[in-house]
Amino acid sequence: MSGGTEVRVAVFPVAGRGTRMLPATKALAKELLPLYDRPLLQWSVEEALASGVERLIFVIGENGSAIRKHFSRDLALEQALESAGKHELAMQVRACALPEDKVAWVVQDSPLGFGHAVGLAAEAVGDNSFAVLLPDDFVLAQIPCLAQLIEARRTVGGDGIFLAVEQHPLGEVSAYGVLVPESESVSENDKVITARSVVEKPTPETAPSQDCIIGRYILTPRVFEALRAGQRGVGGEIQLTDALAVTVDSGVPLYGVRFDGKRFDCGQTNGWLTANRALADAHSSQE
Ligand code: UTP
Repeated sequence: MSGGTEVRVAVFPVAGRGTRMLPATKALAKELLPLYDRPLLQWSVEEALASGVERLIFVIGENGSAIRKHFSRDLALEQALESAGKHELAMQVRACALPEDKVAWVVQDSPLGFGHAVGLAAEAVGDNSFAVLLPDDFVLAQIPCLAQLIEARRTVGGDGIFLAVEQHPLGEVSAYGVLVPESESVSENDKVITARSVVEKPTPETAPSQDCIIGRYILTPRVFEALRAGQRGVGGEIQLTDALAVTVDSGVPLYGVRFDGKRFDCGQTNGWLTANRALADAHSSQE
């Protein structure tokens, strides 16, 4: 196995219904909700680019046209801002646009699950390892969370599946996919954990660890084989975690990476508000 290929492709599954944020997400994709001064999704696009990603694949749903618009040039708006002397704003608006040759748009007609959305990106991804970022998990970190995963992959020196994990109290694990560590004794200081599998939303009694998976992944294209089977999991949805478990059973190594940084669950109102507050505090302390 070679770990030689770099991670240059990222998939953003952004076709979910965002039911936990209704009615705010009735007409607007959750990923376009503002976090401080820009849409949630823009933060994770910037994280990916800062981590060395060169191609971005968006899996969009019925509210996807506004997402495309956000990442395209808007010459009329730019000109209006320039004519009004608002050059800084014009520059910021221009900077949102992604070069067309670096972006692919894939449509998920109905929201059959996160795993299903990732599976639809197979053709656009091709044969190399790729990253998956869930924009509603916002990570405030000195070193971008995805860059930390990429560094862990480089350190391990091989291909495989790398999952960003954070430790939660047992009472909270049933909201997450949870890592099944290879060895029972994983020290608090271990950053990269060799794992045997993952389980989706275990009860506190059956939880194999407290290392909970968050929305940053490095995957191998082998995952697509398992996703093609279309197995329905928790909530009747096609879950990525189930496909990961199948892929690992077929011999692909799995690692959890305890990243440095603070993660906010912006897929629900309180987490989103807390993240806004944290960014506002960070900005006001810089002023
Ligand atoms: P979530 O589990 O957060 O689901 O999806 P959701 O539908 O967005 O939100 P709730 O649970 O109803 O409030 C995780 C990620 O997978 C994407 C979402 O957009 C989000 O980025 N997703 C989910 C899809 O792209 N398609 C789907 O069918 C489901």
